[in-house]
Amino acid sequence: MADNNWYPNSWKQHSALQQPEWPDKAALEKTSKDLCIYPPLVFAGEVRSLKQHLAKVAKGEAFLLQGGDCAESFNNFSADSIRDKLKVLLQMAIILTKGLNKPVVKVGRIAGQFAKPRSSPMEVVDGVSLPSFRGESVNDPDFSKEARLPDPARLERAYFQSASTLNLLRAMTSGGYADLNQLHEWNLDFVAKSSQGQRYKELADRLSEALQFMKVMGINAANTPAIHEIEYFTSHEALILEYESALTRRDSLTGDFYDCSAHMLWIGERTRQIDGAHVEFLSGVKNPVGVKLGPTATADDILGLCDRLNPNNEPGRLTFICRFGHEKIAEALPTMLRSIDKEGREIIWSCDPMHGNTYSSPSGLKTRSINHILKEINSFFSIHQSEGTIPGGVHFELTGDNVTECVGGSLEVLEEDLKDRYETTCDPRLNAAQSLDIAFLVAETLQKNGKS
Ligand code: PEP
Ligand code: CO
Repeated sequence: MADNNWYPNSWKQHSALQQPEWPDKAALEKTSKDLCIYPPLVFAGEVRSLKQHLAKVAKGEAFLLQGGDCAESFNNFSADSIRDKLKVLLQMAIILTKGLNKPVVKVGRIAGQFAKPRSSPMEVVDGVSLPSFRGESVNDPDFSKEARLPDPARLERAYFQSASTLNLLRAMTSGGYADLNQLHEWNLDFVAKSSQGQRYKELADRLSEALQFMKVMGINAANTPAIHEIEYFTSHEALILEYESALTRRDSLTGDFYDCSAHMLWIGERTRQIDGAHVEFLSGVKNPVGVKLGPTATADDILGLCDRLNPNNEPGRLTFICRFGHEKIAEALPTMLRSIDKEGREIIWSCDPMHGNTYSSPSGLKTRSINHILKEINSFFSIHQSEGTIPGGVHFELTGDNVTECVGGSLEVLEEDLKDRYETTCDPRLNAAQSLDIAFLVAETLQKNGKS
């Protein structure tokens, strides 16, 4: 049932958590007005295509791979960094497609992932207290009074950086860069020598042989688009509602509203209140939506979210992205799965093994251990297997850069190495080698489960 009281700004009647205190309200209004007339970043038709793919994920016929930066940055903005993030996701997708024997739906946390919820509104360093960094579409990560002042001009800059990022991604995914004949090119230099880089190379060798055989049989990139180009989708947390509502457009074909800032949007663990502004806003747009769920989410919470966000029980519309932590998942997930299953709700269950496993290293840097990440993923799959439900996807914070932010993996990042290349402006990300480690493990686990 459509909610007749909804309109793009109806969220303003609800309480909106985690919104910045913009000091210059007139400037915010001006930016919102400008964003309202700027071109949409994505089209409704593309969003519908993603929803169709996700409907297959909901039925276990495809698998969702979502990943990218915790927070995109204005400073680390270059063709190389966009290309390298795409490479890692393409490699992971190849490993998973081959291992699972299912299509993989590729969704980047990119081209719009600029706003961050924070557990504390203030940050204290050496006795100095300043507003927390809330993502570069709001303020600057530098620790100074001026840097931390929210500035609406940043929303506009985030829009243009998203447009430019998306432009390159579209060019690369349709213009030959994602052509399966390029499989070997996606191995990043620093990964190629690692054991997982080698493993990827062997897989790429085998697939190239198969492609060669198909070419001889007359199946090639010129006559088979699936070899030459891929569908790649964008997503981010719909946090700053002024931005999201300003980019909402009515589709001329169907008359429905779409949030045209990205194909898929999600609501974070801190803003998923049933009566809150974020749920209200996303209840009225037709995009596929995700909701992050931590271990404190109750059966009532999640059934309420289904009622509000997916009243027609449409497969592919709603993804629950679970981020419990490796120690809490065994207690939290089974009861949630049962309460949803009992009611026959169409849900994609995806595993975010990052956000429940963050800890402070002895040097004070926030990190995550690959062992904990792998443990949570393993539990996620084995719980689904024993409950007879579908593990639909995975959600990672990762980068193609050779960073040292998470510990462990085949290149053995140690806690004392973290400071070497710790570049994130928010949460610690997997580097490319660690991302491949994890993709191989997921593929193996699902293969094993499928056979048993
Ligand atoms: C995030 O995805 O970066 C994030 C803040 O997640 P969560 O809402 O799960 O804490
Ligand atoms: Co994060």
